[in-house]
Amino acid sequence: MNIEEAKLILSESSQEHVLAFWEKLSADEQVKLLVQIEDLDFKSIARMRNMLKAGDVAGASGGSEPVPPQVIELAGKERAAAYAVGEDQLRAGKVGILVVAGGQGSRLGYDGPKGAYSIGPVSGASLFYFHSRKILGLSQKYGVRIPFYIMTSDVNDSATRKHFEENGFFGLNPEDVLFFTQGMWPALDSDGRIMMDQPGHIFMSPDGHGGTLSALDKSGSLADMEKRGIETIFFFQVDNPLIEIADPAFIGAHAAQQADLSIKLCAKREPLEGLGVVVERDGRFEMVEYTELTDEQAHRRSDDGELYFKYGSVAIHLFSYDFLKAEALCDMPLHVARKKIPACDADGNVVTPSENNGCKFEKFIFDVLPDAKRVVNMAFERAEEFSPVKNAEGKDSPATCRQDLQLKWLRWLHELGVEMPLDESGLPVIPIEIDPAYALNAAELKEKGISLRGCGRPYSAH
Ligand code: UTP
Repeated sequence: MNIEEAKLILSESSQEHVLAFWEKLSADEQVKLLVQIEDLDFKSIARMRNMLKAGDVAGASGGSEPVPPQVIELAGKERAAAYAVGEDQLRAGKVGILVVAGGQGSRLGYDGPKGAYSIGPVSGASLFYFHSRKILGLSQKYGVRIPFYIMTSDVNDSATRKHFEENGFFGLNPEDVLFFTQGMWPALDSDGRIMMDQPGHIFMSPDGHGGTLSALDKSGSLADMEKRGIETIFFFQVDNPLIEIADPAFIGAHAAQQADLSIKLCAKREPLEGLGVVVERDGRFEMVEYTELTDEQAHRRSDDGELYFKYGSVAIHLFSYDFLKAEALCDMPLHVARKKIPACDADGNVVTPSENNGCKFEKFIFDVLPDAKRVVNMAFERAEEFSPVKNAEGKDSPATCRQDLQLKWLRWLHELGVEMPLDESGLPVIPIEIDPAYALNAAELKEKGISLRGCGRPYSAH
């Protein structure tokens, strides 16, 4: 793109101010700014402006009173049957894995990709280590190549790739680890103008985990899935090392219903826990954010004393390939968040504001839910599958996550009749860790046996 083309496209969308300092920029800065302008998604920017003008907020759904969906809880023979179907799908190479890891991890305050954060209680290995070793374990168990699609963003793409390279891809075949970056969007001020954080630079941030769909398409990852014959995609978030990646029972339940989308749900810790709630309304499914439930809805109880909207979603999903592909071509709703954004004033000085001065826009993955015709909602035990690293301290922090990992492995050891000395809070006195590529569950650990070793450091974390 040259300067004349840039002027034209900016004037067509009333964003001429982006070139206000053009004459003062160095040649290098001018080239970089032109590249940024060329990459802008003007169609989405027009939607953002209209949304600001209309004072619109995505997600506030109308319609009739929502009701909880039917949630399956698999146990005994039913679970075993679903598990066997899921194992067949895995063995046939029809399952791919997709992790979203493009976020900025601002609450954790870690200077690097969140996936490179050190979480192993003994090894100090990273979140990516645990995910990759699980996929390696599955791949070895079922004798099949399992593609691992990793969504990064411009903010962390090169550091993420480097983390995998430095760690030998944690034993995975590099050809089966496929990175792709999500889109980046500018922020707008209250007049709908693109915000500049330097005289020659547009402020950009990731377009949200809902950006996965268009990024899958644009990057060629969807085409890769098709080439490999992938029919089902297991989707999860990078910050939860307890995840049961590609749980065969979940895959089996999804396959039995020929579902477009399946969702794992866990019982909420308290009525106002910050998890989305799946509801059924007018024959369609929706995810209602906890902030959108009324106080009465959040606290309502059924006759059995349980919360009426008992289950929350933690973004563990299965997508059918066809549904994912169809959704990748749709415009998703936009969600707006008011933020403090460093901005360039009329004289070209960069000001860091003390109040919110701009709007960031994001797409959320769960907005595809109303388009799904067949949906499976399946309950899971939180202690077995979910303990995210969100905050630096307190709830959902590295400390609570390391504890939950160890408690899970302790339960496996207990099943094998191995008892470890525990401290007063029930945690092992000597930290424990099990390599997922060695055993994915207690049954595999039993089969392979245990020999206690000292604490090696198999893979480094940043
Ligand atoms: P969170 O909403 O928890 O965001 O993302 P975060 O970036 O990890 O942390 P905070 O909110 O800044 O503290 C949930 C999952 O969605 C991914 C994250 O990487 C994480 O796996 N995500 C989020 C993206 O991939 N892209 C985004 O734009 C946002």
